[in-house]
Amino acid sequence: MKKIIIAGNWKMNTSISEAENLYTNINNYLTANNYSNKVSFNNDSRQILICPPFLYLQQLQNLATQDKSIIKVGSQNLHQELKGAYTGEISATMLQSIGISHSIIGHSERRQYFAETDELIAKKIRTSLLNNITPIFCIGESLYERENGITNEVLAKQLQLGLSEIMDLEQGLKAKIIIAYEPVWAIGTGLAATSKQVSETHTFIKEELSKLLNLDLPILYGGSLNEKNAEELLNLENVNGGLIGGASLKAESFTTIIEISNSIQ
Ligand code: PGA
Repeated sequence: MKKIIIAGNWKMNTSISEAENLYTNINNYLTANNYSNKVSFNNDSRQILICPPFLYLQQLQNLATQDKSIIKVGSQNLHQELKGAYTGEISATMLQSIGISHSIIGHSERRQYFAETDELIAKKIRTSLLNNITPIFCIGESLYERENGITNEVLAKQLQLGLSEIMDLEQGLKAKIIIAYEPVWAIGTGLAATSKQVSETHTFIKEELSKLLNLDLPILYGGSLNEKNAEELLNLENVNGGLIGGASLKAESFTTIIEISNSIQ
């Protein structure tokens, strides 16, 4: 059975009550359909993750613990240092102290609006791994780059630079990394990449990862993934799940995607 991770990136959305409701509706669906007794969820070959805003992490993590939920809670970012004079920032040790298991790192919106560079992202990935937070390392090309035929070049560079700070770590730690391929032009546009584009690109990423790290890491697809295209995209051979923005904010859409992923072998 292939590994499938269904991850929701809530971005800067929801009030606390909306966040609690969204979590509760997703969890109720999982409980009603007995997901916690499915072998694939117990051996981690299937995983469900939500990444709400920082402000709600502790509350949602508490609810998930209290409910013995299979839902894991992740952050959308973290700081590369563990503590100090970094006003407004959140560290990996803080996240770890409230039970957070994952963090999205290097999302294209952080690269674009918060000037995150490949070098900074590389530091964040290292900090994350060393502090027991599983990084979901995002890469992706712009429309200009795709149209000019340099997608593979761009992705190879993002991978090489983004992974450059972890080369001295042991393989077991590096193996925890999750990659998210998110073409920038497909994010929030309603225009997902085609199966052919996803398939070719994931195959390329897989080859690069094997050259760089000698590892076979899970690769999620992100960019307008929804309940309508999930079946086609999640079934592709080298796709190990999705990083979902818009469709993760509606419990019905998110749980439909979970249901689709559950039927994949
Ligand atoms: P989208 O966002 O599903 O709304 O396109 C995906 C993401 O940015 O992770």
